[in-house]
Amino acid sequence: MESELKIERRRIQEAGQEQLLRFWDELTAVQRDSLLGELRLLEPRELREHCHRAREAYVREKSCPQRLDDRMCPVPAEFLGSVKRSDQGQLRAWEEEGLHQIAQNKVAVLLLAGGQGTRLGVTYPKGMYSVSLPSGKTLYQIQAERIIRLQQLAGEKHGTKCSVPWYIMTSEFTLNPTQTFFEENNYFGVQRSDVVIFEQRMLPAVDFDGKAILERKDKVAMAPDGNGGLYKALADNHILEDMEARGIMYIHVYCVDNILVKMADPVFVGFCVSKSADCGAKVVEKAYPAEPVGVVCQVDGVYQVVEYSEINPNTAEKRNPNGSLTYNAGNICNHFFTLDFLKSVAGTLESRLEYHVAIKKVPYVDNEGNLVKPVQPNGIKMEKFVFDVFQFAKNFVAFEVIREEEFSPLKNADKADKDTPTTARRSLLWQHFRWAVKAGAKFIDAKGHLLEESSSRNPELEDPPVLCEISPLISYFGEDLDLHLNNKDISSPYILDSQRL
Ligand code: UTP
Repeated sequence: MESELKIERRRIQEAGQEQLLRFWDELTAVQRDSLLGELRLLEPRELREHCHRAREAYVREKSCPQRLDDRMCPVPAEFLGSVKRSDQGQLRAWEEEGLHQIAQNKVAVLLLAGGQGTRLGVTYPKGMYSVSLPSGKTLYQIQAERIIRLQQLAGEKHGTKCSVPWYIMTSEFTLNPTQTFFEENNYFGVQRSDVVIFEQRMLPAVDFDGKAILERKDKVAMAPDGNGGLYKALADNHILEDMEARGIMYIHVYCVDNILVKMADPVFVGFCVSKSADCGAKVVEKAYPAEPVGVVCQVDGVYQVVEYSEINPNTAEKRNPNGSLTYNAGNICNHFFTLDFLKSVAGTLESRLEYHVAIKKVPYVDNEGNLVKPVQPNGIKMEKFVFDVFQFAKNFVAFEVIREEEFSPLKNADKADKDTPTTARRSLLWQHFRWAVKAGAKFIDAKGHLLEESSSRNPELEDPPVLCEISPLISYFGEDLDLHLNNKDISSPYILDSQRL
């Protein structure tokens, strides 16, 4: 151990990070072993550069935030599809194209589930979170059931038995609990062989002086390398080879926390395929100019996502002659890629992606050896972003969808005023209520009286008049519900699932 320590000490000095060994004398043999094991994985030159880069980027961002206003252009109309602005025939044609590709086993979904979910503040992966729907389903279960239903829809339409493989990127934090959760729940009915769980890399968190942080006396604080860590993880875990072996050509990448996500949405897939896109992004109209969502646009003629903080308010407020915002394409982390595109990124282009600085609260051990949970941000995490590959697209398209049908992310705990368990639950229940109205359901109160469909309720602030939850196993996007709900009396809470049929 002594000679090993000497080697590690030298390597750590080389990296300029001697503080990582400052509690060495107090550690037990087991703790020393574990710390040495961690340090061995950090290459001195890389660690030095990483810490230096983190500090530089932090200082740069603090002193002069980059402004992109003069270099920006919105997505040209010919590359921007829209649900709202397309007629039913066109939407149906895209849907059919998507279902056709799915039926031929050419489409996979890829879930980004490596995040730590610090804002939500739970100790387990966000996908295991239940927003207290009447059924109690978790985000993972809802997603699994959407995949199953979609396979059924595509298979029935084309007379095939097809599958949509589900690739799940996790991190050190989420891998084991996710795996165990899936096993305990029998993969929620998805074929075991169609679920591929893999792990992204981690990077040390760094303080504002460029020093790697100790989370405990014997543990370096590590954080996943951002959702753009996907591209290294694809290569590390030979995921693209797995896709190729299955004949996959198109991949829908999405975030774990959007309760309304339409996995492998056939309309989106069909739109991208029919435009021969190699890379695509679903977007929603921005709710208001200062909304803190990234905007998909061009900068110097190259596609990227521009954050609200990177533009001046007057640019965010700019409007088209018809009154809509000029920079309106809000990114919802819902992407289409061809396998060939992912191969070129994971192969060579990934190294050109820049790291972004995330300033976070990183638990640490202070000089007296006390564990501290900071109340103010104290650390820098370096992250790559999944959408930063738009710049490499040869044929990029964006597709605008309707927010209340497709986007309601779970980011914060309930004390926040947006993107909480309550807002996520409400979005889903309102969607299902709308589906039930359309299907001809009759809503009754606890006393058996017919309820008026209340149009005066505010979906953002109130629940629908009747809580009605429809299993994704029965309906993926509201289809076929008149069979089950036309003229049916429904009272709260009502769950339409396969057991009820
Ligand atoms: P967020 O940026 O919302 O981060 O992730 P988060 O980790 O979930 O939550 P906070 O910021 O700590 O509160 C958007 C999506 O990217 C995934 C997340 O799991 C989520 O689906 N993600 C994020 C990764 O897969 N890996 C990462 O390193 C970071």
